Amino acid sequence: MNVLVVGGAGYIGSHCVRQLVAAGHRPVVLDNLVFGHRGAVGPEIPFYEADLGDPEAVGRILREESIELVMHFAAFAYVGESVTKPRKYYENNFVATLRLLEAMLDNGVNKFVFSSTCATFGEPERLPIVESLPQAPINPYGQTKLDVENCLKAFAQAYGLSFAAFRYFNAAGAAEDGSIGEDHDPETHLIPLVIDAATGRRENIKIFGTDYDTPDGTCLRDYVHVDDLARAHIAAFEKLEAPGVGLFYNLGTGRPNSVREIIEAVEAVTGLKVPVVEDARRPGDPPALYADSSKAQAELGWEIKFTEVREIIATAWRWHKANPDGFGD
Ligand code: UFG
Repeated sequence: MNVLVVGGAGYIGSHCVRQLVAAGHRPVVLDNLVFGHRGAVGPEIPFYEADLGDPEAVGRILREESIELVMHFAAFAYVGESVTKPRKYYENNFVATLRLLEAMLDNGVNKFVFSSTCATFGEPERLPIVESLPQAPINPYGQTKLDVENCLKAFAQAYGLSFAAFRYFNAAGAAEDGSIGEDHDPETHLIPLVIDAATGRRENIKIFGTDYDTPDGTCLRDYVHVDDLARAHIAAFEKLEAPGVGLFYNLGTGRPNSVREIIEAVEAVTGLKVPVVEDARRPGDPPALYADSSKAQAELGWEIKFTEVREIIATAWRWHKANPDGFGD
């Protein structure tokens, strides 16, 4: 299938592009390179430097490349920033997505795969998180993603759009061959920061909160390999053949790891000591988030290849060792 990957030069998008090729599809990338990296996309992949909120550019690409399905990974995803700059988040994550959907409908493209987030659940009333739990985001980032989810439901009913929305837990790791990986600026995610502390690129890792009601006092998260996420997206394609289909899936391994466990795992994988500083809680961090992904496994046949966090960290380590400066742009 001809697939437009919006945000295909970003972390999850670029891994998805490679999985699409491996599965026999033809990806076309659209990215404005604000956060994406040109070097994350192979030179053989059609690449358009454009903005998803530009309906003329998007419409032209949809027609010229005979696009049948759009995958949308382009979003701002800094939770703290979303609280201080909500306009930026509503503009990019919601309004621009609406423009993208309009361009699709105007050009007869009605299959859509959307990157959503466990942040749509806020502080869940039960764990693990199943799809049917109430969604109550506690920051504008999660709210903009939930707003798009609701928009998609209405568009499916009214316009026959078929979509799958995936709520990721903590995306982690890198391509197994070490060729592409995680490179955020600024980096806020735990695993790359701990690796930088191990190698001495950062002085230490600060543990945000050691007094949570969890077994070792630090937050529990569900780290899921980026290629496992990508494979779930592709597995949903055939379900989107009929018009008006709306699907939601939580994607995580279901195995929570604490911040301390991640630090220990990085030490075990790298053989390096990680200097640790115990710090105050980071505002807005729920104590524990982990997924029940049995729906994706049952309905999509999703198989989690990387079930152990050490295997995930080993792929991240391979990428960081080979590319200490990331993509170098
Ligand atoms: N953490 C530290 N020290 C650090 C960085 C993180 O202790 O220097 C802790 C955090 O407090 C948290 C855990 O490590 O407990 C994971 O933090 P990340 O920032 O890596 O990831 P989050 O769980 O905060 O964020 C992820 C996604 C977001 C998404 C969010 C939903 O990256 O996009 O889940 O809660 F919105």
